Amino acid sequence: MLLEGKKAVVTGGSRGIGKAIAIKLAQSGADVAVNYNSNSSLAQEVVKQLEGFGRKSISIKADVSKYSEAEELIQKAGSEFGRIDILVNNAGITRDALLIKMKEEQWDDVISANLKSVFNCTKAVSRLMMKQRQGRIINISSVIGIIGNAGQGNYSASKAGIIGFSKTAARELGARGVTVNVIAPGYIQTDMTDQFTDSMREQLLTQIPLKKLGATEDVANLAGFLASDEASYITGQVIHVDGGMVML
Ligand SMILES: NC(=O)c1ccc[n+]([C@@H]2O[C@H](COP(=O)([O-])OP(=O)(O)OC[C@H]3O[C@@H](n4cnc5c(N)ncnc54)[C@H](OP(=O)(O)O)[C@@H]3O)[C@@H](O)[C@H]2O)c1
Repeated sequence: MLLEGKKAVVTGGSRGIGKAIAIKLAQSGADVAVNYNSNSSLAQEVVKQLEGFGRKSISIKADVSKYSEAEELIQKAGSEFGRIDILVNNAGITRDALLIKMKEEQWDDVISANLKSVFNCTKAVSRLMMKQRQGRIINISSVIGIIGNAGQGNYSASKAGIIGFSKTAARELGARGVTVNVIAPGYIQTDMTDQFTDSMREQLLTQIPLKKLGATEDVANLAGFLASDEASYITGQVIHVDGGMVML
């Protein structure tokens, strides 16, 4: 197994892409701390599923947009597992509105939940990983951070910010054996995209060469690889999982 004995933290691991990543890491041999913000029963179900694979797992409530809670999350996971080899910064929200209608609160909430959370958890875990001289940080951005999207100024700014931050972190932590990479998913079937109407969905498919939305497992498979020793010479990269939607 690619991740035998590894210890991981997945933020927003209770649903959607984060849940699929937690499952993939556990199936590959890792013990996983499943972070969530509000829905403890969903997080607990994921923990049970991971334990079913013979792995250790705990759920940890933390609003990762707040530094003190992110720090506590990393401390709890570290003391439960003894070390942290893998951090997946996946937690994220949308609060869509056109620029002229966007409220300050919508801007602030999305930047805090999506971007500040990545700084918070990465800072909290980096001392530990630098001491270990080994670590994998995987940050979930979005193709919207690269091409923009009307109605998502806050979201696209947060996702573009993740890319710049990750490249800097990759440069700062590389000498200590810590890699930092970004996954940029396109449209993936989750609660976040379930809100789309049929006509929005049809319009989207015209932009996707593979003519379908992605599955959460498509993102999880890449996260599993990036977390493994097989990806040890890959850092500072942004890898798309988008059915060919955005080609640079
Ligand atoms: N779905 C897509 O098409 C798509 C495309 C590109 C990128 N992404 C990105 O992929 C990530 C996951 O998306 P998803 O579609 O799986 O979302 P989702 O189904 O809405 O799940 C979001 C997860 O994040 C958690 N979360 C939200 N705010 C949090 C906070 N402040 N602290 C801790 N946990 C928090 C939620 O926990 P609670 O339920 O407990 O609040 C939940 O587990 C996000 O960063 C998203 O931007 C998604």
